[in-house]
Amino acid sequence: MGPFIWILVITAGIILTAIIVYGILCLIEPHKHIVTHVTLAKNQASSGGKIRLKCGEEVYKIRDDIPSRDNGIRIFFFSDIHIETCFISAEKICRHIEEEHGSKPLDAVIFGGDIVTFGNTQAKGYRYLKKISDTCSTLGIPFLAVTGNHDTELPDQEVSRECSMELIEGTYKIINCASGASFVLCGIDDSGRENRVWYPMPEVPAELPVILIAHDPDSILHTGDRLPDYMLSGHTHGGQLKLPFGLRIAPRHKNELPSAGIVAGAYSYRSCTFYISRGIGCGYLPIRFGSVPEITVLDILP
Ligand SMILES: [Fe+2]
Repeated sequence: MGPFIWILVITAGIILTAIIVYGILCLIEPHKHIVTHVTLAKNQASSGGKIRLKCGEEVYKIRDDIPSRDNGIRIFFFSDIHIETCFISAEKICRHIEEEHGSKPLDAVIFGGDIVTFGNTQAKGYRYLKKISDTCSTLGIPFLAVTGNHDTELPDQEVSRECSMELIEGTYKIINCASGASFVLCGIDDSGRENRVWYPMPEVPAELPVILIAHDPDSILHTGDRLPDYMLSGHTHGGQLKLPFGLRIAPRHKNELPSAGIVAGAYSYRSCTFYISRGIGCGYLPIRFGSVPEITVLDILP
């Protein structure tokens, strides 16, 4: 073989090896997880400048590691289990709830939607969430939830009954926290991708700080007359599959926030501070890269 052929063979070998290594790492990452501790406050300073959305609205990246204080609400938030491709067991989630509650009382455990991907495995998803509900009721912590865009085929009453969790879609619950503060937790339903409908935020008491739980972070652009003070979301899986060395696949999302690269972390939009979780399962294929599954413990200040 001539030198040109050798260069071609070696280059092809390097590319093939890189693809195989990347594939293996993509299969390993869904089995990992981290517990992220986040503090959110109103009017936090921007840390990454302005991001302009296609619709003309502006979103700011903000810091989520400001010092915590003992005057807010403490929330354990997890989202997007996608039970068919979830490798983080319910027992692990329960253990984290017990540990976090033991170190500082949790005021609420919240699930942010997407129990399933395909809709025929809901019984397994219900059993998963029921274990978490049992832990919450043993510890005396409210367990609240919204459903996601993949859960539209699951009847709300069935989800609520089988998982023993309180769905707050279209309604709200006042949480009187261990700190002495009170917060309104409210939720909105997700209509799914086909024939998308954006539901407004439900009517809530005006005098308390409001945290909206919305599966899809684009909901913040469609809350109606009033913005919540805070919003917690999932849905984006943190991008789920990133390329090595910070390379990006050109986004082709219809949604505004992912199109602008907003798929995880803390941001502000007008008077609302919001956080997007990377979630714990995988959508469709059991692969992730650059987006380790995440459980979030949030201290939210009034
Ligand atoms: Fe999801």
